[in-house]
Amino acid sequence: MKILVAGGAGYIGSHTTKELIKEGFEVVVFDNFSTGKKELLVGGELFEGDLMHKESIKKALWSKNIEAVLHFASLIQVGESYADPRKYYTHNLITSLNLLDVMLEAGVKYFVFSSSAAVYGEPLQNPIPESHPLNPFNPYGQTKFFVEKVIQDYERAYGLKFISLRYFNAAGADPEGHLGELHDPETHLIPNILLFLLGKKRKFEIFGKDFPTKDGTAVRDYIHVTDLAKAHVLSLKKLLKSPQSEFINLGTNKGYSVLEIINKTEEITGEKVLYTESPRREGDVPVLLASKEKAEKILGWKLYHSNIETIIETAWNWHRKCAKSM
Ligand SMILES: NC(=O)c1ccc[n+]([C@@H]2O[C@H](COP(=O)([O-])OP(=O)(O)OC[C@H]3O[C@@H](n4cnc5c(N)ncnc54)[C@H](O)[C@@H]3O)[C@@H](O)[C@H]2O)c1
Repeated sequence: MKILVAGGAGYIGSHTTKELIKEGFEVVVFDNFSTGKKELLVGGELFEGDLMHKESIKKALWSKNIEAVLHFASLIQVGESYADPRKYYTHNLITSLNLLDVMLEAGVKYFVFSSSAAVYGEPLQNPIPESHPLNPFNPYGQTKFFVEKVIQDYERAYGLKFISLRYFNAAGADPEGHLGELHDPETHLIPNILLFLLGKKRKFEIFGKDFPTKDGTAVRDYIHVTDLAKAHVLSLKKLLKSPQSEFINLGTNKGYSVLEIINKTEEITGEKVLYTESPRREGDVPVLLASKEKAEKILGWKLYHSNIETIIETAWNWHRKCAKSM
């Protein structure tokens, strides 16, 4: 069975491509390499194209006989989305609408979407269940929210079957050391600490020490990227076997503060992390944790790699290996 992985040359898309191939799926990676990297291609076929252009999606879907689509390709920087909302609304909405439109024309009905915890906005409770009200407060989160609305309507009107996976903080790297996180600019906590330790960043900043948490720093739910990738394979299998659309959180129920992550990283790397303190960033909430019960129940999902030591160790192995070529 042939699957199109839009954004398969990116961080999460490449790890998912690897898992799909392991499970016997034929994969076509569709990517424009705007943030993706050739080094992150792990097999399958490559179709170089841009989701902003419907014609190239058409070519890929028709010529390759695609039966399901996984959609990772979006702009992902929350801060940038505040500063330049037009860029985010235009890109993230048009690419998704184009992709869905061509899918419907081609009769491709199965869709797995990379959504985000950002759809919830300020949590009223933690861990957050999928039934929590949706109130995204940054343009990035709004784009995920809108695409979720679109796919619900497309299900009702055109029979699209989807699973929208709301990721919390993706982290870590392929345990076999072939893939890892290479965003530019990097905005995520763990790679930023590691880049600083490797001398690739001149300073490492933490944002806010006055949150109402046990040590004053923000608490997040870190999920290993390989566990995330496996959830996509399970979602696809679920859609193919008993097509029912779902919104599902991917997280661990558990959180670590920024200072706890720093301490763990110091233990694992044996290096001291010297940081500077900056004020909170707009929209940063104190605590964000996922309820993972639905993923376990509906997908039969299990966490294999998401303890914090494995997350940091695999990321450290990858970053050390890549540091020379960065
Ligand atoms: N990284 C996280 O912690 C996190 C958390 C929540 C949700 N997500 C979502 O997961 C998805 C993947 O995130 P990531 O960290 O792997 O990002 P990434 O930037 O590493 O990957 C995105 C990929 O999409 C490709 N792409 C972007 N625009 C494209 C276009 N117009 N046409 C074709 N290809 C295009 C890029 O080249 C890249 O390969 C995103 O949708 C993101 O919003 C990520």
